[in-house]
Amino acid sequence: MNRREFIKLSSLGIGGGALMSSFPLWSSLNKPDIRLVASESSHTFVPNQKVPTQVLSYNGSIPGPVLRVQQGVETSILFENQMEESSSIHWHGLRIDNAMDGVPGKTQEVVNQGGQFTYRFTPPDAGTYWYHTHQRSWEQLAKGLAGILIVEEPNPPKVDQDLVFAIDDWRINGSMQIDEESLGDLHAWAHGGRMGNFVSVNGLANKAYSVSKGERIRFRLINIANSRIMTLRFNLPTISVIAIDGQPVTPYSLEKGVLTLAPGQRIDLMIDMVLDPNHKSPIELLIEDKAHQVAYFKFSDKVKREQLLDNPIALPLNPVNRVAIPEKAISVPLLMEGGAMGSMQEAIYQGRKMTINELVQHQKIWAFNGVAGLPEKPLFQVNQGTAIGLAVVNNNAFPHGIHIHGHHFIHDKEPSYWRDTALFSRGEKGRIKFVADNPGKWLIHCHMIEHQAGGMVTWFEVV
Ligand code: C2O
Ligand code: CU
Repeated sequence: MNRREFIKLSSLGIGGGALMSSFPLWSSLNKPDIRLVASESSHTFVPNQKVPTQVLSYNGSIPGPVLRVQQGVETSILFENQMEESSSIHWHGLRIDNAMDGVPGKTQEVVNQGGQFTYRFTPPDAGTYWYHTHQRSWEQLAKGLAGILIVEEPNPPKVDQDLVFAIDDWRINGSMQIDEESLGDLHAWAHGGRMGNFVSVNGLANKAYSVSKGERIRFRLINIANSRIMTLRFNLPTISVIAIDGQPVTPYSLEKGVLTLAPGQRIDLMIDMVLDPNHKSPIELLIEDKAHQVAYFKFSDKVKREQLLDNPIALPLNPVNRVAIPEKAISVPLLMEGGAMGSMQEAIYQGRKMTINELVQHQKIWAFNGVAGLPEKPLFQVNQGTAIGLAVVNNNAFPHGIHIHGHHFIHDKEPSYWRDTALFSRGEKGRIKFVADNPGKWLIHCHMIEHQAGGMVTWFEVV
């Protein structure tokens, strides 16, 4: 019985008690598990910040709330747009139904001011993911529209704390407001993207993590910045990498404590807290050989365990880890061109060949295979189950992080890792292999968001 019929019957007084008592059940079945409201709000990065920063946020929080959902269990998330501009939510890294992927114009209608959209999906793989706007994201993401999504294993490894480290990059002016003038700055777009002057962890300057000696911690790192590649240094000897872009890897120890996260990438660490009570251990961001403390572990005066636990625990494999990629794959070239100091003279934009000067008028300065922006026809269209080998050539002066929607892939540089976002440094060539097994229309783009907006985006279709 649908809702209409029910209302009709009950208004006629038919059905009586049985129907009435079924109403709470009906409403609980239709109530979303999670509600995310995007709105203009204000945020403070430091406790004594005099003037709060005006941001765009989910549920008033920077970053958005950490959503914890269960692997293999359907979740519904009601998105309400209370902003004055249209938006959508993309679930970065999740292999879910195309209609839930959150790409306006490709998988759904944009959600206008006052509008709603219910996302409903069953995440097949456990791990660390995130969600963010996919509308004018060069602006909306820079203003704060991102949050963390954790898909929990049915039996997660036992740890003392499961913590999130979401690192973001902000461009803040003298009055502690987002520097709006630099949004859309084509000079920055043509370089590494619009870089900030302030880095936050979980929305805070110098975030403190309270720990105790002997604790074992799962530490989920997510780079939610628009364009800044984050090289981080940890100062503890007992750190293992246990997952990359959500997917389990055979645990390995983090040599020298240094790791790099391109925008969109995630790494899960397992850390055993070795220091004595009341010590501090900084987490640093390395920028051109300079270390900036962005967070720290603060050891309490208690001891959890005198003897550290041995050997990091491996995470249970995900279904994606069992996808076999056949040797024979259809090879698709993906040439990245453009940007400052690049050699791109012309490209096709909206079906028309344009010179670089014309392209600049349209804020387009990057291209895949000579096409800037989303082409009308897909880069390739294949039957479900086809193996694809993207032959990526970075033929310009900047690094780029390639992200594929709805799929995970293997990058031949790191053949045992399943990723959804891979970094290609300047001049680098490489191959990304995956099985196009998820029907629908999927984007491929650079996750330096200003490069995506500047033209480095395409799509493919699985039928
Ligand atoms: Cu996280 Cu299309 O992106
Ligand atoms: Cu790029």
